[in-house]
Amino acid sequence: MFDRDIYFNFLKTSRLGKELVTLDIVDSTNAWVAERLDEQRLHFAVVVAENQTEGRGRLGRNWLSPPLVNLAFSLAWGTNIDIKNLNTVTLAAGIALCCACQEVAKLTPELKYPNDLVFNGKKLGGILAELRQQGDQNIVVLGIGVNVNTQNNQFPEELQRTSTSLFQLTGMSLSREKLLASMINHLELWLDFLSENGSKLVIEEYRKYCSTFIQREVEVISGSRIIVGVAIGIDDNGGLLVEVSPGVVETVYSGETRFFD
Ligand code: BTN
Repeated sequence: MFDRDIYFNFLKTSRLGKELVTLDIVDSTNAWVAERLDEQRLHFAVVVAENQTEGRGRLGRNWLSPPLVNLAFSLAWGTNIDIKNLNTVTLAAGIALCCACQEVAKLTPELKYPNDLVFNGKKLGGILAELRQQGDQNIVVLGIGVNVNTQNNQFPEELQRTSTSLFQLTGMSLSREKLLASMINHLELWLDFLSENGSKLVIEEYRKYCSTFIQREVEVISGSRIIVGVAIGIDDNGGLLVEVSPGVVETVYSGETRFFD
């Protein structure tokens, strides 16, 4: 079971995650948070579940995670950031998760555009960001799933080749409580940094975590668009620049990135 005392021992934030809701079972922590946005006590709360019956992934997919070994949590982040820069909230969150893995597991994942946590090409975790409106404020419900102590045979068969966990990568069973606290510490830092400084420096930092994907041949499925070309960089709004033919560059802001090489 999730040990709240260990989590609070490692938490260093000024407000994010000071309220921790632990649920044994829920349909989806993102849905749980989104249904309670008007509850004052849940502002800045972190909601973590041992088991999700309808865990949601990006692009309408399911998020499957065996109970008790991984992290599945959500939080609501109110922001006044311009709507066209909202995707930078998830980029900042991706950086924060990488920093926490570095701190606790001593390994640094890469970010596959826009915000899949990967190591050696295998997926370690992901972020689902869902936008809600409350008055004139944009609320981003950030849902985060990270494979922490999963053994390979605990993944559903279809994921065994493409997924990994921190345990599989380090050979160490990690404290989920310590990792969650570290993630929340870094999330508060990076999300505050974004609110105070705008997106430019966040995107500069983000570029470091996805640099290995630059110059690779990609296919990006973004809504009904399929963009095929060479990923040549991240623009100042956090969009992925894809050179589709010599000198012709298209920009995408979300979607699923696959590699050909
Ligand atoms: C992805 O597809 O990569 C994003 C996965 C996000 C999964 C997390 S688990 C906690 C939160 N609740 C959900 O239903 N989904 C997110």
